[in-house]
Amino acid sequence: MFLTFSCKEITKSSLDNETTSENIVYTEETLYRPNFHFTPKENWMNDPNGMFFLNDTYHLFFQYYPEGNKWGPMHWGHATSKDLITWTENPIALYPDELGYIFSGSAVVDLKNTSGFGDGTTPPIVAIFTHHDPIKEKEGLIDIENQSIAYSIDEGKTWIKYANNPVLKNPGIKNFRDPKVVWDENHQQWVMALAADDRTKFYSSKNLKEWAFISDFGNDLGAHGGVWECPDFFPMQSENSNETKWILLQSLNPGGPNGGSATQYFIGDFDGKTFKLDEDFKKQLDLKKAIWLDHGMDNYASVTWNNTNGKNPISIGWMSNWLYAQDVPTETWRSSMTIPRELKLNKTENGFFISSEPVDQLENYFSDKITKENIEFNEKTILIDSKTIDLTKSVIDIKLTDLTTDVYTFTLYNTIGNNLKFGLDNVEKHLFIDRQSSGLTNFSEAFGKHVTKAPLTKEYQEARIKIILDKTSIELFFNNGQEVLTEIFFPNEPFDKLTIESSRKEAKISTLNANKLNINNN
Ligand code: FRU
Repeated sequence: MFLTFSCKEITKSSLDNETTSENIVYTEETLYRPNFHFTPKENWMNDPNGMFFLNDTYHLFFQYYPEGNKWGPMHWGHATSKDLITWTENPIALYPDELGYIFSGSAVVDLKNTSGFGDGTTPPIVAIFTHHDPIKEKEGLIDIENQSIAYSIDEGKTWIKYANNPVLKNPGIKNFRDPKVVWDENHQQWVMALAADDRTKFYSSKNLKEWAFISDFGNDLGAHGGVWECPDFFPMQSENSNETKWILLQSLNPGGPNGGSATQYFIGDFDGKTFKLDEDFKKQLDLKKAIWLDHGMDNYASVTWNNTNGKNPISIGWMSNWLYAQDVPTETWRSSMTIPRELKLNKTENGFFISSEPVDQLENYFSDKITKENIEFNEKTILIDSKTIDLTKSVIDIKLTDLTTDVYTFTLYNTIGNNLKFGLDNVEKHLFIDRQSSGLTNFSEAFGKHVTKAPLTKEYQEARIKIILDKTSIELFFNNGQEVLTEIFFPNEPFDKLTIESSRKEAKISTLNANKLNINNN
């Protein structure tokens, strides 16, 4: 697909148009294909699935429709990476079959060969996924989603579906899907978290083939503006106390804090059967009603890698939203993943919370760098120009000081007046992203129609903001990932300047580090 924008004028372009500095012809590849976020080469992608780490390789599977750029009969696509940043797309891993489409799910490295699928030398990888039956669905039946397994004995390259699928049959619940399985070392069992309408259901197993129901969680807790989907459940060691807690990530659609799809989380303890909320977390939840992993509109179905060897969990999300995912203005491919993030469990006087930060491996791609110190600003001040750091592939880390009760606005813009605003509002106490004038927005009624906000509980005198910029996405990490906002945008030409301003008084950037990323994934 060719877009019809140029720097100086809007022209109808064609493939063989010359590219000159006066009249740059952008294609959707050059303007919108991310520089470093994972996208499939072609066609439709949604949720990340079945991620595992083995022999120095990170595997990412994903909901994939190889024949069209809108959602369709689901397959599992497959990509691999040595460092979570540079990806290689591999052949499709799982195809739909007579039991249905291959919906979301997980994969585990079965180190003890509990499933018996291994040959005794290399551990089998077992994928646990939902079979969604489109024929029964058309007939208006309820029991259309069942859980099945497949295994690989060649490190995820090829898969064999288990002969006795499904392994967990539908008990009469329409939305009964997205199994995420983890090994529970304390109780020597596998635990599955499964989304079922308005709750998470937990099942346990000794061999990944036979599953027993153990408990329900959450029908009266957290956000319920839509159906619960894509849970993740895992233990986590606290950064600053000697405690381990169990975390439930629970996506839902719609019902996110800024509309549409989003992921909330819960922190508690697991006794091998039931998940009980931590007391302090419960108090926070009572106050806030829901606690979100990311307040932006474009981080959905976030789940973590299996078998990362006791380190902090690493998550990745689908960088889109069901409100408009099928309408975003790319045709060759549709949608990308977030940057992988390391999750950390932090303890404060108000109890535990999870922070997310981009994985350290991103820093291996830092190339050109600028550092600035003590920039006093009030009126609009240019911080970065693409001539020095390419704002379509960069990481910018800013420390603000001398902040008062004021609004601090960063603006990314281009020469034709598109702009993306984001920042810290110390008056109304929130972070924000405003993509209302960011370029193409009218492809959907739901895109760019309001300012996205992440509420803060206090006014800040100092703040640190890390920003990851690709051609069509911003990921904003506030105070070491205490709050995160992820959003996509589609400018008519690349953003090439970044400014800051305050609404009233002078404030200061004590340090600014900007790094160009030397990656080209796509
Ligand atoms: C979430 C979801 C899952 C489902 C998959 C289908 O985005 O709806 O619940 O398994 O997508 O593609």
